[in-house]
Amino acid sequence: MNQTSVGMNSLWKVFTTTIGKKAVMAATGGVLLLFVIAHMAGNLQMFLGWGDINNYADLLKSHREFLWPFRVFLATCLVLHVSTGSFLAIDNRRKRGHSYEVKKLVGASFASQTMWISGLIIFCFIVYHLLHFTLGVTNPEYLTFRDAHDRPDVYRMIVTAFSTAGTVCLYALGVATLGFHLSHGVRAMVESLGLRMETWASRIDKTSLVVACLLFLGFASVPLAVLMGLLQLK
Ligand code: HEM
Repeated sequence: MNQTSVGMNSLWKVFTTTIGKKAVMAATGGVLLLFVIAHMAGNLQMFLGWGDINNYADLLKSHREFLWPFRVFLATCLVLHVSTGSFLAIDNRRKRGHSYEVKKLVGASFASQTMWISGLIIFCFIVYHLLHFTLGVTNPEYLTFRDAHDRPDVYRMIVTAFSTAGTVCLYALGVATLGFHLSHGVRAMVESLGLRMETWASRIDKTSLVVACLLFLGFASVPLAVLMGLLQLK
């Protein structure tokens, strides 16, 4: 067997064995987790004022040579995460006939048993979010907002978007589902990467819950602050 066929064989195993699929879920989930943490930190700059969030958005958008490769990388991770997760969910359903799997489910949390449902809701939220803010499909006027330096006015876009309670509810639902998904996801990622030792189990579970709650609060704080009038147009 030459080196190419050994490589192809290993790649095949990654996508066809349960352990390989879990490794793909953990690696892609880790990348997506880092992205949401960075995105939340970026959004919190809304509290620093008009200039800061627009400077930050302008900095990201002006480096097209990094922006597009990054977008392609992120989209690839999302597609791999969703597709591999779907295959794992189908495998699990098939295995439910075996009694030992049923026993395993008894101790499983509600979040762990509903990962595919929360994942599907998050996926729908991301599609809506991109149509709403990035592509300007639902509200094309957002793309025409410019600040005093003739840059995209992200501050005005966010304040305008969250002035209606319906949009705030949709986002609150989206980010609450993300928190719920991560309350099991972070823990599962650590386990799949083989880093979960029994002595650390309870700390990892707590850390997973804390990360999920902080992300929910961080993301939800911006729409709620706009709705409560704490963030306003000048
Ligand atoms: C209240 C919560 C959120 C707010 C205010 C928010 C805000 C924004 C803004 C302003 C942009 C840039 C739009 C533009 O192109 O001008 C953006 C892009 C994006 N957001 Fe969010 N976001 C939120 C939650 C989320 C969540 C929870 C996720 C993922 C689960 C997410 C994923 C994305 C993605 C993938 C992009 C596109 C990034 C790119 O252009 O490369 N966002 N968001």
